[in-house]
Amino acid sequence: MDTTNLPALNAALNATSGVLVLLGWRAIRAQRKREHRNFMVAALSVSVAFLVSYLTYHALHGSTKFTGTGAMRTVYFTILVSHTILAAITVPLVVTTVTMARRQRFDRHRKWARVTLPIWLYVSVTGVLIYFMLYQWFAPA
Ligand code: HEM
Repeated sequence: MDTTNLPALNAALNATSGVLVLLGWRAIRAQRKREHRNFMVAALSVSVAFLVSYLTYHALHGSTKFTGTGAMRTVYFTILVSHTILAAITVPLVVTTVTMARRQRFDRHRKWARVTLPIWLYVSVTGVLIYFMLYQWFAPA
């Protein structure tokens, strides 16, 4: 595999972490606490792998131009801007949520988690969507 394949790997990592977050959510709704913890730690590990791979790709290849036109450009950049802002916010949110759990402050963990979870999911889903828009549906020539 050469580094031009990294965007596909990144999209797969994004999708995987989204699925793990959903499974972790389902586990805690069923009161399966250990399973919840394991899924969330797995989601976090996959997200860290994504971040390393994402930074590697952009350090080597720079950014890719979106080739879509008209209304699609507005849709793409709206998703891109919201994804980028929320991705940056997700990092401290996840750190705080996990820190509360590690300190066994589950009252606070719950409060932070209710904000962190939907934002993390949005970032995962839009990350995959951006990959398809940028590299598949409107692929660079
Ligand atoms: C960023 C990662 C995590 C997210 C997004 C997350 C999300 C959540 C959510 C949504 C709830 C249920 C809140 C509600 O009652 O509505 C919850 C509860 C809980 N989480 Fe996490 N969680 C994460 C990591 C962890 C970790 C690493 C642990 C490890 C111990 C953990 C342990 C728990 C426990 C024990 C509860 C139940 C608290 C209670 O009601 O007594 N969570 N979490």
